[in-house]
Amino acid sequence: MLENLKSKINQIENSFNLIVNDIDSKEMINKVKVQFLGKKGEIAELYKILKDLPLEEKKIAGQLIQSLERNIEEKIEDIEQQLDKKEFEKILQNEWIDVTLPSEFFKTRPLFSGHLSPISSFIHKIQDIFLSLGFTIADGPQLENEYYNFTALNIPENHPARDLQDTFWMTNGLLLRTHTSPIEVRMMQKLSAPLKLIAPGRVFRNEATDASHENTFYQIEGLMIDKDISVSNLTYFTKIMLSQLFETDVKVRLRPGYFPFVEPGFELDFECLICHGKGCPVCKNVGWVELVGCGLSHPEVLKEGGIDPEKWSAFAFGLGLNRLVMMKYAIDDIRWFESGDLRFFYQF
Ligand code: PHE
Repeated sequence: MLENLKSKINQIENSFNLIVNDIDSKEMINKVKVQFLGKKGEIAELYKILKDLPLEEKKIAGQLIQSLERNIEEKIEDIEQQLDKKEFEKILQNEWIDVTLPSEFFKTRPLFSGHLSPISSFIHKIQDIFLSLGFTIADGPQLENEYYNFTALNIPENHPARDLQDTFWMTNGLLLRTHTSPIEVRMMQKLSAPLKLIAPGRVFRNEATDASHENTFYQIEGLMIDKDISVSNLTYFTKIMLSQLFETDVKVRLRPGYFPFVEPGFELDFECLICHGKGCPVCKNVGWVELVGCGLSHPEVLKEGGIDPEKWSAFAFGLGLNRLVMMKYAIDDIRWFESGDLRFFYQF
């Protein structure tokens, strides 16, 4: 009986070895699995015969069957792994993409080449002007805290001036900065006096939008701290900037303006370049466009920045970049900037 079983085992081993090298698909693997390892497969048959053997022979035969079973399992596992690998390589070969190729989108617009948005190129121009005047370029976080956005700028809690700048509050108590002025105190604390800097950046106001109001826009902050700074320093630097930017004679006017962080405070207006003072949607029919809030830094703000207001004085301004770009290119609606409409951006 044992000999009989042994020769059966050999037979099965041989027939497995005969077909094993031809396996080249998952379907075939499954077939072979069923044939040899399945519930009614060849190995299962051997175990059936085993039952009828005497105890001593059972031990020997059992080991032989087990080792055959293990061999077959291991081989099949090997083959499965090889097949997986081959399949993966095939996918790699057929499905790779060249990420450096131009996209379908640009194929239909062959003349378009990347360029800066008009806001960015204005920031660069203004930076160049102020760098040549010895100013530093500073930056600050868009997600600000109440202290830098309000308190440090002499706007105490419950002061109505906080309502002038409708604020996007986060649930964690932080806010989206409503102006670039928080960068002033941050930099005073960091760099101390004397100090000349400009700080461009994106700012946010929670207010209804129309042709001249947007919830997301850009400002450039300017700050100059030195001995005996006066309003004439302020007008000199803003005039230089505007004349270089517009390369044309632009009418400006300075009128009193209220900002808690400057004293005295001013609004610097442009005569509207779109309607030349006649009145249009951009200037809300007044012929002038508010461009810069400015003034001499309030002593409390300097103190907050760790600077002695008895020794030092400063001017500061905050310039609305979108309106400047609108003037330059006669854009009649501020909402174009955040619209994401490429027809708008292709024009620059
Ligand atoms: N931060 C002010 C605003 O956004 C502008 C400003 C800056 C005014 C600096 C005075 C001095 O309206």
